[in-house]
Amino acid sequence: MHIDLLMTPTGTSELFFRDKNVVVIDVLRASTSIITALNNGAREVIPVASVENAVKVSGSLFGDVVLRCGEREGKIIPGFNLGNSPFEYTPDAVAKKSLIFTSTNGSLAMVKAKFARRIVVAAFINISTVVNYLMKLNEDFVIVCAGKEHNFCIEDVVCGGMVIDMLKKNEIEITQTDASQAAQILYKSFKRSLHKMLRNSDHGKYLISIGFEKDLKVCAEVDSIEVLPILDKGVVKLMKDEVALQEKSA
Ligand code: MLT
Repeated sequence: MHIDLLMTPTGTSELFFRDKNVVVIDVLRASTSIITALNNGAREVIPVASVENAVKVSGSLFGDVVLRCGEREGKIIPGFNLGNSPFEYTPDAVAKKSLIFTSTNGSLAMVKAKFARRIVVAAFINISTVVNYLMKLNEDFVIVCAGKEHNFCIEDVVCGGMVIDMLKKNEIEITQTDASQAAQILYKSFKRSLHKMLRNSDHGKYLISIGFEKDLKVCAEVDSIEVLPILDKGVVKLMKDEVALQEKSA
């Protein structure tokens, strides 16, 4: 199994992702919120790159079974139903709904990887489920860290490093690029306090400054949720391992 890791998708062409298995990570907070929404009964999440697209895609069904969700500068977009705090994605708010989701970095990374063979949405909160799936898949994959405004951000790379570290502990034979080795090293130096790492990160500090301190704790909770969100044909849905693997061999 060969593991590559992109510290940010910026500068990588969409065609790079063609036929690859991709794990998209945006710990703060797009991945965490999408995973939470699906775990709380959302029918599907449709990531889009811009506010205009979110409005267009939600169309006339907006407000009924379709919700507009996401953020700009960490805050809810005017006229949208939900922002990007995992606390907003309660069963009451999202059950059976289709969520049109746009965020500054996370949804961009998901849209950019659209030619991939398979895209898994990962964060600390569902990491073991993702790792178990990758072990069964037993194929090469690339971790795409959403980053922050086209730059490196520590929490996504540490989470990617944790995926790699967990696979290696399971004695999977692995070859790595330099970036994926660096991510694993970074994870090892922060693994004792992921919450503290988030609090000291650029985006963590920003979220604290705009009143989302509580979100950091939730985003740091390893394995609090056991679901596998797969992005396929532009839509993120929950999949059972077996189903996803069958699809692959079909
Ligand atoms: C993003 O996609 O940039 C984020 O999830 C930002 C945020 O914390 O809301």
